[in-house]
Formats: sequence, C-alpha cells, structure tokens
Amino acid sequence: MAQLWGGRFTKETDKLAYAFNASISFDQRLLPQDIAGSRAHAAMLARQGILTQAEQQAIDAGLSSILEDVEAGKLMISDEYEDVHSFVEANLIARIGDAGKKLHTGRSRNDQVALDMKLYVRGEIDAVDEEVKGLLSCLFEQMQQHVHTYMPGFTHLQKAQPVTLAHHLGAYFEMFRRDRERLADARRRLNLCPLGAGALAGTTYPLDRADTAAALGFDGPTRNSMDSVSDRDYAIEFLGALALIMMHLSRFSEEVILWNSDEYKFVEIDDAYSTGSSIMPQKKNPDIAELVRGKTGRVYGALLSLLTTMKGIPLAYDKDMQEDKEPVFDAVDTVKSCVHLFSAMLRTMRFSRARMEESAKHGYTNATDAADYLVNKGVPFRDAHGIVGQLVLYGIEHKKPLDAFTLEEFRQFSPVFDEDVYDAISLKTCVEKRNTMGAPGEEAMRRELAEAEAYLRA
Ligand code: ARG
Repeated sequence: MAQLWGGRFTKETDKLAYAFNASISFDQRLLPQDIAGSRAHAAMLARQGILTQAEQQAIDAGLSSILEDVEAGKLMISDEYEDVHSFVEANLIARIGDAGKKLHTGRSRNDQVALDMKLYVRGEIDAVDEEVKGLLSCLFEQMQQHVHTYMPGFTHLQKAQPVTLAHHLGAYFEMFRRDRERLADARRRLNLCPLGAGALAGTTYPLDRADTAAALGFDGPTRNSMDSVSDRDYAIEFLGALALIMMHLSRFSEEVILWNSDEYKFVEIDDAYSTGSSIMPQKKNPDIAELVRGKTGRVYGALLSLLTTMKGIPLAYDKDMQEDKEPVFDAVDTVKSCVHLFSAMLRTMRFSRARMEESAKHGYTNATDAADYLVNKGVPFRDAHGIVGQLVLYGIEHKKPLDAFTLEEFRQFSPVFDEDVYDAISLKTCVEKRNTMGAPGEEAMRRELAEAEAYLRA
C-alpha cells in the first residue's frame, strides 16, 4: 500500500477500507491527462522560479517515460497504489529521485483530479462529436437517395399523411445536429482550468494560473478556487447530452425494429449487423438496434447517478466526488459504440421502396388532400372534412382506397367532385405539392439537403 499521506497516521489502513477507498482500478484511464497536467504544472513552477530548470527537465522526462512505458506495456499500473496520481508520483520519485518530490508543490489532488476529469471530458466531447458527425453523414447519404421514396408518415403509430423516407430521416438529422450543438455548448462552458485552486483555497506560491490554463488549451483559469475543486457540472452536462443522444438513437432503433418486422418489411438489416436464433432457423434479429435501445437505460442511469451523488455534498471537495468517474467512463464507452454501430447498420440497411410506397397508398393517408381538394372547389373546410370522413367510411366498408373510387362513387358524397380529383389525391401530388419550408415535397427537400450539405462541410 503506497500512500501519499502516511505521515499523520500511526497504523496501517484496514485492508478492506483501503480497497474501498482506492480508485486506481478505474481512474488509471486518466493517466494521459494526469501526465499532461503535471507537465504543465512543472513547467509553470520552473517559469515562476519555484523549481530549477534542471528539476523541471528531470520531472518532464520522467513523466514522459512513465506514460511511454505504460503504453508500451513495460510498466504495469498495479492496485498497490491508491489512485492514478499516487501511481505517477511514486514512479516519478523512483525514477528521478528528490526532484520528483517537488512536483506536487502548490497543488492538491483535488485540483489535480478536477483538471484530469475536465481534460478527459473535453477529449471525449470531441470524440463523441466525431461519431455523431459520422452518423449525420450516413443519414445525409440515405436522405439523398430517398427524396422520392414515398412512405406513410405516422401519428399515434397510425398512418397519417404520406411523406418520404428522406423527410423521415431528415427528422433524425435535426435531432443529432442539436446533439452536436449541446456537446459544443458543454465544451465551451467547461473550458476553464481548475489547476492552481489547490485543495480549495488556492496557494501562497506565486503560481501563474493563466500560464497552465493556456498550456493545456483552456480559455483561462476558473474564477473561484472552492468551485474549481467541487464543480462537476460539466460532467453532468456532458452526461445530459449523452442521454439525449441515446434517447434519439433509441427512438430510431425502435423504428428500425418495427420496420424490420415481417408486418412492415420496410427495411432489411444487413447480415453483418443482425443475428440469428439458436432454435428458430428462420430468424434474423435486429439485435444491434435492440441493444442500442436497451443501453439507453445505462446512460440515463449514469446521469441520474452523478446528479444524485452531487446533490447533497457540502463545499468544497468530498470523496463522494470520486464516484463521478465510473458512470462517465461507462457512458462514454456505451455512447461511442452505440453511435458507431448504429451508423454502420444504417449505412448498410436496405430500404424497400415498393413496400413503403404500397403502405403509403393504404390507410387513407390522402384523406386530408381530398378535403383540401373540396376546399379548393369552394366547400368550407369543416364540411369538406365531414364529406371525406363519409368517403373513408364507405371505402373501409367496400375495402377500397380513395383513388380506386369511380367518379360516380365520389359524386354520391358531393357533386363537386370531378375527374381532376384523381390527380389531386395521388400519392405523388400529396407529397410533392407540400413545399412549405421543412415539408417533404421535392422542392422543400432539396433546400433542406443543400443546407445539410453545407452544414456537414463546415
Ligand atoms: N481519487 C480521488 C478522486 O477521484 C482523487 C482526489 C483525492 N483527494 C483527496 N483529498 N482525497 O476524487
């Protein structure tokens, strides 16, 4: 048991208590961030005359070699250390001797871990953003190919009005675009450096906090040292953004699962992204989509877990905050793999234009357009709504869609109907005439696609 704080103690920590307290099993993930933070701290200490040039150079080389050796598998991170910070410091001292003991001058593990987590979250915001951008590119490519793929649009999971697949996918494009904005927003607010806050009250050494902040790519130092060591808002905001990404992916997954079912047959998932059954030879299951939907719970759990951890802890640092790491790490791993696999599944998924179009032709998705037709002929909308309601009832009884009615049949309900009704309520008209901004018609859709393309290129 290698502890940094043995001096005040007269006996060893109980073995179980030690293990309970330790975080090395999971915070070793922060090694690159810990090393980067320490290097910046040491460089600043030297510039301020707190370390000699020689000491700083020895520290810098020692820290780099520790990271290299761990990455090369030459140095193992073992649980004889309490946490990643202790591991680095102990190894540094073993490598360079007394100069290593000076690294922690003017620093506490409280500002150190706050910095490590911020650096980690910032890096993962960028990594998740890259994945979401990849998903948006997949969506865009599919949208381009399906501007004229007609399908039913649903409300209450009942066929409502016809749309196109490009339009339907475009809804997800907007959701994931907002997710990227949320990530960027969280990143912007996060980007102040807590290093130099010390345990909670700053230090008496003449630290240059602006220097370390700039060296580590921050916009500046944090303003209040107590807030600096006790703030985990950025991790919660990040988890909030991740939870929303999963919520969107989960809705999309649910649709893929429905569309892939025998009842819909709108899509076929590529063999590479589906799985079979051990007993039923005919099965080809949408497991990837189901797992993405299922894993959403874990990410919500991570958000709730950290929110709850933070809700009752007094200022400034408390050990409760060590519980920030596992939920964040797990959520990051989960979201990155979900977005990545979902994108791959989407890219290889085959959409059945014929089945979608056939489905759009049934369920009276053109009823609103039939009413609009009457309105254009001077019938008040409320009357038109009633007339078309009767048409639909008749259609259901006689098992025929509106466009299969004879003109005589139409005229039983209103004398206003004429030959031009067939064109007015055709699937093509219903979709292509809807060109208000954001609507599925080709004209509107082309504008949306051009905008999306410019967005992806920016
Ligand atoms: N492992 C700790 C954490 O993750 C590091 C900070 C420890 N600070 C302390 N005063 N015990 O929060």
